[in-house]
Amino acid sequence: MPEPVERNLGLDLVRVTETAALRAARWLGRGNKEEVDQAAVDGMRLHLSTIEIDGTVVIGEGEKDEAPMLFNGESVGTGEGMVVDVAVDPIDGTTLTAAGLPGAIAVIAISEGRGSMYAPGSLVYMDKIAVGPEAAGVVDLEAPVATNLKRVAKANDKNLSDLRCLILDRPRNQKYVDAVREAGARISLFRDGDVAGAIATAQENHEADILLGIGGSPEAVLAAAALACMGGEIQCRLWPRDESEEQYAREEGLDLAEVMTTSDLVGSPNVFFAATGVTGGEFLRRVNFKGEDQAITDSVIMRSKTGSIRYMQALHDLGRLREISSLVID
Ligand code: FBP
Repeated sequence: MPEPVERNLGLDLVRVTETAALRAARWLGRGNKEEVDQAAVDGMRLHLSTIEIDGTVVIGEGEKDEAPMLFNGESVGTGEGMVVDVAVDPIDGTTLTAAGLPGAIAVIAISEGRGSMYAPGSLVYMDKIAVGPEAAGVVDLEAPVATNLKRVAKANDKNLSDLRCLILDRPRNQKYVDAVREAGARISLFRDGDVAGAIATAQENHEADILLGIGGSPEAVLAAAALACMGGEIQCRLWPRDESEEQYAREEGLDLAEVMTTSDLVGSPNVFFAATGVTGGEFLRRVNFKGEDQAITDSVIMRSKTGSIRYMQALHDLGRLREISSLVID
């Protein structure tokens, strides 16, 4: 018997990221990253509560004490329907949004089954390598950078000198910058937003070939969800910042040498991912406000089981939305 056609929950999730983006974009360029984040969190939570899932936030805004909403362990959804782990980054690029710079997106992913997503706990950074479908299976986080670049160049049918590597611009990533330059490939440094960076390696006609470097652990799990849908690959390793984080890892029994793969981060074959552009960039366009009462959003919706990737533009009538609820947009 063929399986019955299932609902694509990504189509529900996109309303969550659209609302987060619409609300956060109101704070674009106002220099206040806390307000950017709060606006997005409020918007996300509003819509998440309507989705027919029995969800638990695994990657959220932090521990309950510091995060009154979307905290790790919070139950979300109607409580009926598919049992899922939920990962959110209401805005990946809060600083970008506050500064009015491109590259920020609102992101959510869900994965079927309790415990199906990796929860990095208090270790906030991971060393990462991410590639698109052509180069999936050829990279190894433990291999020298030059070896990975040669393998990716071959898989992507490019000269090494044309290979474009994305690296989060941080002093801790200088060793990657040096190694890529030494190998003769190109680098695009970016200021924030490595979920979009990982996705950029897997898009159709992608110009970026590989993402390298140390970035956020929650962002690694969200990137894994997207790459699981797109057929790409991410490998990561926890990266403690100091002795106290090493101590924490020992106490928690975390293996700092372990290389985690896409499926270690997101273990279910049924993963849904949605993102909406906030400030615009190579991946998704910004929220485009047209006067007081209209806005256009640009989103992507993905599902791993079927491999579907939908790009969606939506025209929002903000006037009508305001009449329904000031929480959607104010
Ligand atoms: P936020 O918007 O949540 O601040 O994250 C932006 C980001 O650039 C992530 O994409 C990245 O993984 C992380 O910050 C890197 O952390 P840090 O800014 O501490 O180096």
